[in-house]
Amino acid sequence: MSERETDRLTELAKRRGFFTGTAAAYGGVAGFYTYGPQGAALKDNLEGAWRDRFVTREGHMEIDAPTVMPEAVFEASGHLETFNDMLVECAECGESHRADHLVEDHPDSDVEDAEALPNAEVADLIAEFGITCPACGAPLADEPVEDFNLMFATNIGPGDSSPGYLRPETAQGIFVEFPQFAEYARNQLPFGVAQIGRAYRNEISPRKGLLRLRELTQAELEHFVDPEDDEAPIDRVADVVLPLYSVPQQKADDGELQELTVREAVEEGVVESDWIAFYLGLSKRWYARAGVDMDRFRYRQHLPGELSHYASDCWDAESEIDGGWHELTGFAYRGSYDIDKHAEYSDEDYTVFKQYDEPITVERPTVDPDMSYLGPEFGEHTGFTIEESTESGEHVRPHIVEPSFGVDRLVYTVLAHAYSQDEVDGEERTYLSLPAAVAPTTVGVFPLMDRDGLNDRAYEVARTLRDAGLAVTYDDSGAIGRRYRRQDEVGTPFCVTVDYDTLEDDTVTVRERDSTAQKRVPVPELPDTIGALRDDDRSFEDL
Ligand code: GLY
Repeated sequence: MSERETDRLTELAKRRGFFTGTAAAYGGVAGFYTYGPQGAALKDNLEGAWRDRFVTREGHMEIDAPTVMPEAVFEASGHLETFNDMLVECAECGESHRADHLVEDHPDSDVEDAEALPNAEVADLIAEFGITCPACGAPLADEPVEDFNLMFATNIGPGDSSPGYLRPETAQGIFVEFPQFAEYARNQLPFGVAQIGRAYRNEISPRKGLLRLRELTQAELEHFVDPEDDEAPIDRVADVVLPLYSVPQQKADDGELQELTVREAVEEGVVESDWIAFYLGLSKRWYARAGVDMDRFRYRQHLPGELSHYASDCWDAESEIDGGWHELTGFAYRGSYDIDKHAEYSDEDYTVFKQYDEPITVERPTVDPDMSYLGPEFGEHTGFTIEESTESGEHVRPHIVEPSFGVDRLVYTVLAHAYSQDEVDGEERTYLSLPAAVAPTTVGVFPLMDRDGLNDRAYEVARTLRDAGLAVTYDDSGAIGRRYRRQDEVGTPFCVTVDYDTLEDDTVTVRERDSTAQKRVPVPELPDTIGALRDDDRSFEDL
């Protein structure tokens, strides 16, 4: 078996029903994957865990906007003009490539941030390094580097008079409706609006499995805060230790990760926004529970050239797979960029009305109507009077803090980090050490033999567990050892075997995946016990 994690994972994923390239019958299509039953269940569980942590437990709203939006939205958001990647095409074979990646990946290159360079400079570097087409080997030196817009274009209705785009991020569906959401939040900042849904990016050359897709799922939270007044609740996560890789550390010759608590990161100014620091702390705990290996995890700050057009600062949560680092989440400080733009391009008022504690009296100079005519006496009269008025509040444009999670990348990371091998009964075993809370199946139920009433009793046990809301796989085919291996390979944390003792004393064997240890549990206690194990309310050792 190959040593590369991604190859092992791709093989397992297809064989056991996690994910597979789409439309293979028609030659396949890069950047599109279909989740099989195991993958769809894992993804759904991760989305549920995200919703629980970042929406429900934070008291935010969740919405569901369309995936197609009219052009005006993306004209305002800046995506039409700036959501581009650098394209170079091979004149020989017609293959398209990311020009900045070719430059960064070349062995002689120490360029880390080619995206920040002008296109012409990247073209010069391609010539200087003698970079050739990765597909056919033809030189790319004379090929131009051009901007390629990543949005998929469509037409809304017949004809082409109403262009639209598949959304490149779910976020704009939130920003464009901001005035309404501010009303729902009774104009009280801070408030958050979340959305889980598909986004589309016509990537130039997606070749990294679920890590770079043309149709992807995002779980995004747009947190609207008053930049003058709102402080992040740092105390809740103050002691969480963050593995930080800041811009200065990335630029230093021997730059390493800095392990700082959330409080230290804010006080030492390593993370500028306390809101971003808060979300780094909150997410680190969540990632660990979701199954990301914390020894292969870091938060890396964007280099200036990497920042999206709307962001003034951004930290990515990154995971390590096969020795490379991959983005899981972007924590971006978007300021008021998006709502400023929608205010500018539309007729809506993108503000919240912030009520003062007490009304205040303000003095304003006004033009005296009688004196406003600037006649010959101009200079003797100011033409202005001071008027006092009482104001109960002011209109403010909130700032936006955006944790934007890539769900597919998370699925991929969790699988890669869960992939484990050991030896059981003298045989090599592959298993996925997925946390019980996100595993596609919580419990496998088997009759020891497919006879003597064991199968009927096992089926009843499976029914009882399903009625209790647990995800159950019933399996009565093949030797019991093979059934265990099948569940190990899809990460099922517990298996229940109904045997001849069950018919005597109404107990079953519960076997734990990682340790393969077994305990006997009375059938009437089984639903509560498995539920408690899944929710981490009990540990297997304490049964
Ligand atoms: N909303 C952030 C992103 O799409 O990357």
